[in-house]
Amino acid sequence: MSSFVKIKNKISRFNKKLSIDGDKSLSIRWALLSSQSLKKSRSSNLLLSEDVISTLNCLKKLGVKVKITKSFCEIVGLGLNGFRYKKNLTLDAGNSGTLGRLILGLLVHSKKKIKIKGDESLSKRDFLRVTRPLEEFGAKFNSNNGKLPIKILGTNNSKPIRYNENKGSAQCKSAVMFAALNTSGETVIKAKKSRDHSELLFKHLKLPIKIYKRNKYDIIKIFGKHKIPALNYKIPSDISSAAFFIILTALSKNSKLKISNININPSRLGVFYILKLMGVKISKLNVRYYKGEKIADLIIKSTNKIKPINCPVKFNSSAIDEYLLIFLVAAKARGVSYFKNLSELNEKESPRLKWGSKILNKMGIKNIVTKDSIKIYGNPNLKIKKKIIIKKFLKDHRVFMTSVIAALSFGGDWQIFDKDSINTSFPSFLKKIRHLGAIIE
Ligand code: S3P
Repeated sequence: MSSFVKIKNKISRFNKKLSIDGDKSLSIRWALLSSQSLKKSRSSNLLLSEDVISTLNCLKKLGVKVKITKSFCEIVGLGLNGFRYKKNLTLDAGNSGTLGRLILGLLVHSKKKIKIKGDESLSKRDFLRVTRPLEEFGAKFNSNNGKLPIKILGTNNSKPIRYNENKGSAQCKSAVMFAALNTSGETVIKAKKSRDHSELLFKHLKLPIKIYKRNKYDIIKIFGKHKIPALNYKIPSDISSAAFFIILTALSKNSKLKISNININPSRLGVFYILKLMGVKISKLNVRYYKGEKIADLIIKSTNKIKPINCPVKFNSSAIDEYLLIFLVAAKARGVSYFKNLSELNEKESPRLKWGSKILNKMGIKNIVTKDSIKIYGNPNLKIKKKIIIKKFLKDHRVFMTSVIAALSFGGDWQIFDKDSINTSFPSFLKKIRHLGAIIE
């Protein structure tokens, strides 16, 4: 089987309905939290992608029982601090920053040294951002300057901490929240706004958590060592996966798409607010709440005139996984768009700010990139003449999928490598793209 796709034509007009795979952030959190309960927890629509399978495999290695069937996944956890620590245990986080970082929070009491490793991409990413606060709880770490592989040795007497999360990283915030769960006393987190799935799950489980919302940050107080009940959960569909189809529809001619059951948690909706400012309309139908999460069906139509944007930085965290796609929208706008304070984008599965710029360069879209900003000179009449090859992007799933959307929206002759990267977050991506009528070799 070839590891690349070839796309030679824009997608033809379509009018379709789609369902999207389960949310990755919620799938990983469901599994990790369920492992902390002594009860049997069941989820449906769990995302069975490599990142989530890695999570289940790590939990199994720690003694947790996991059962997967066609229609549900069941976890029988071991309770707080109940993991079984074998000698020389290595946990493989694969490509997943969320897994690698969050699970460390649950290991602050490990009785034996545990090694966490990851793939080539994850091994380049920064873990000091989580090992530093977790050291304050009392855990000890060995690593090569905060890079994987990392060894963690827990403490049998963790101390609650006060922690200032100032990157807008939900992974850092959640790792500390998970450590706080296992620690007596009150941990206090001052966190720059970021996705709040962990907070909503804690609240749904009736764990002792207090949240004080301020304009730019939240104060979160957690009282640890509270028993965790079963977590039965129907995972809603992932807005970050839906975004590929939202943007493909917006950039295509005379097309319409309905997608159902999407998690529209406001802390993930930066992409909606940015698209609205750029003139893209998304209608929400059937808005409802499920265990604290906001869900809706969405209708998107093609957009004729896309406006450039001077993107407000307040959307950076809530749109962080969608920026590569948003850059494509800016490429189609009449005028110059500007995105700033985006250094976090270079901390992802690949340095995505750089990759965004590279893709635009290959397409013939002028852009000026710095270490934390990009200016994009949009061209609504772009005709791509040169053959475009996208490869060596550390198998970053979002670089692959964004390139497919670029090819189908702008046309040209594209060859895009590492198609298997979709398995980390959105295994059915190409199947769904074909369902809309795209021709992909
Ligand atoms: C995630 C948080 C974000 C996001 C990632 C998933 C999570 O990372 O980019 O895909 O589930 O908490 P950061 O917290 O590092 O910004």
